[in-house]
Amino acid sequence: MTIGDSSTLPAWRRDLERALKRNRGDAHSRYFQLASVSADGSPRNRTVVFRGFAPDSHDLLVISDDRAAKHTELLHNSAVAIAWYFSRSREQFRVVGNAVVATCDNDTQRWRQRLWSALSDAAKAQFFWPAPGAPLSSASQSTSSHDQGSHTAAPPDNFTVIAVSPVSVDHLQLTNPQRRFKSHWDGEHWSACEVNP
Ligand SMILES: Cc1cc2nc3c(=O)[nH]c(=O)nc-3n(C[C@H](O)[C@H](O)[C@H](O)COP(=O)(O)O)c2cc1C
Repeated sequence: MTIGDSSTLPAWRRDLERALKRNRGDAHSRYFQLASVSADGSPRNRTVVFRGFAPDSHDLLVISDDRAAKHTELLHNSAVAIAWYFSRSREQFRVVGNAVVATCDNDTQRWRQRLWSALSDAAKAQFFWPAPGAPLSSASQSTSSHDQGSHTAAPPDNFTVIAVSPVSVDHLQLTNPQRRFKSHWDGEHWSACEVNP
């Protein structure tokens, strides 16, 4: 997919870019909830930080750690859903899509290197902490003793980038009157229509 200038973007992407701009004064405007499906079919959900769009697609990028449970879930089932509320402009975006994980073995686009370079040392340090979700042991109680690698130029092997490729977007505006738009990707084109809120 080629991304042209903003006039050729699908409506949902223009609306989302506008929401990011309008809400940029709120640090939390870049957090969204990313839901996945566990191996037994039950839902899982967590907050993540939006790290931008991939340069040549509408994929939403998130950084993560391949030792975290979500990676096993995504390997098993790539279906994901995002819920994202912008409190200043009072609008919600719900995205359904598929996730692809860029790991140290398959990162042909070099997303890992690009996003690693943009991280603060404090954010990098977390990738040198003991495995997320594993029982706390006395050896792992102080996370600060694991920060040595946070200055490295290359990302550690456990650093991943999750790319969420949207197939539908539901955009609700809590304006007066409320408005709601649904967009769908048919494999070739985006279509959009306004629906009852
Ligand atoms: C504000 C906030 C931002 C977060 N950002 C990320 C993130 O960008 N990537 C990530 O993997 N986890 C992030 N987390 C931690 C996740 O919510 C979650 O606890 C962790 O990824 C483990 O999830 P899992 O066990 O489902 O894999 C964030 C948590 C909070 C509260």
